[in-house]
Amino acid sequence: MTAPLRPGDPTIVNVALGERAYDIVIGRGLMASLGARAAALKPGAKAAVVTDQNVARLHLDAAEAALAAAGIASRRVVVDAGEGSKSFAGFERICEALIAARIERSDLVVALGGGVVGDVAGFAAATVRRGLDYIQVPTTLLAQVDSSVGGKTAINSSRGKNLVGAFHQPILVVADTAVLDTLPPRQFRAGYAEVVKYGLLGDAGFFAWLDANVKDVFAGGAAREHAIATSCRMKAAIVARDERETGDRALLNLGHTFGHAVEAAAGFSDRLLHGEAIAAGMALAAEFSARRGVLAPQAVARVSRHLAGAGLPVRLGDVAGGMADADRLMELMAQDKKVKRGKLTFVLLRDIGHAYIAGDVDPAQLRAFLVEKLDER
Ligand SMILES: NC(=O)c1ccc[n+]([C@@H]2O[C@H](COP(=O)([O-])OP(=O)(O)OC[C@H]3O[C@@H](n4cnc5c(N)ncnc54)[C@H](O)[C@@H]3O)[C@@H](O)[C@H]2O)c1
Ligand SMILES: [Zn+2]
Repeated sequence: MTAPLRPGDPTIVNVALGERAYDIVIGRGLMASLGARAAALKPGAKAAVVTDQNVARLHLDAAEAALAAAGIASRRVVVDAGEGSKSFAGFERICEALIAARIERSDLVVALGGGVVGDVAGFAAATVRRGLDYIQVPTTLLAQVDSSVGGKTAINSSRGKNLVGAFHQPILVVADTAVLDTLPPRQFRAGYAEVVKYGLLGDAGFFAWLDANVKDVFAGGAAREHAIATSCRMKAAIVARDERETGDRALLNLGHTFGHAVEAAAGFSDRLLHGEAIAAGMALAAEFSARRGVLAPQAVARVSRHLAGAGLPVRLGDVAGGMADADRLMELMAQDKKVKRGKLTFVLLRDIGHAYIAGDVDPAQLRAFLVEKLDER
């Protein structure tokens, strides 16, 4: 069909993974269509909706009503809000609840929430009865542009984040941009860092568009939808090329080696949200790229200006409550999952819109760089 899209028509991005392919549907007010979309994919299914307390209060009734309207009986499984639910205990609770609700392979798990719910409910769906179909209904900006797409599911170990998990693709992602209206502004800003990431890593035009339209993206409406759809398109394309991160998918880690170290140094706490750490991490990656002589200083300034203009931290000194020293940050980077056989691997920038993987970073150069950046408070 080539009929022009009416305003209000959702945007559909397909994740082309052969028999595991699925659609990401993006648009304002889509929650009402959740049941019909689910029923079309799984006729006769019943569902368990996994969510957290905050999202339950705001959006669970609408999700359940949409399922019921399409004849899908559902049970709710509500976990505590926050990263603490991405634990063995949280995972166990969800698994037991799915089994108690008699969710079988012909049924559905619906992950309604941010990245925490998506990751832990997705992992439960990957493992209960050796794999249940699930639908992601992301309710944070971060989840709509990042965590709900691509099939990475996980819980945390006491030794580090996301160390226990599985690749398990959803059968559908329903991103209702209206649910973001209830998101605290700080959470929206943090998710926006991942939107900027897509422009930086692979689409200079998108970065320039964000630079011109950032206010409208924050305000909602068509610009927000465009930003989310463009982000999803880029993630979908990368995931389709490299589902299990043996190559290109690692580009999505732009800002994440620096960012994770900074996030860990802040104790994975409210002091610094993940997206805030990634903003600082991207600014550092840009500066470090310039230090290595591959990125122009004007580009570094553009990156920092854009992130800071969106209210995101760009300097280590911006982190409330102080930062770890260079040696501690180095130690945290060495523990990162992205370290390959002891070699420090970074995603760096040749230009805005052109990231590359640098697998040969000299620890001494990195340490000197961090010492300098820590001094910039
Ligand atoms: N699987 C992946 O590929 C992937 C990618 C990136 C991040 N992640 C994971 O995602 C997690 C972070 O996700 P997040 O930032 O969405 O955090 P989150 O799920 O904790 O949500 C943030 C806060 O917002 C609340 N909330 C969610 N939706 C809301 C809404 N519409 N209105 C009001 N409040 C709402 C939540 O209850 C929570 O308090 C981390 O655990 C991270 O590891 C996974
Ligand atoms: Zn991230």
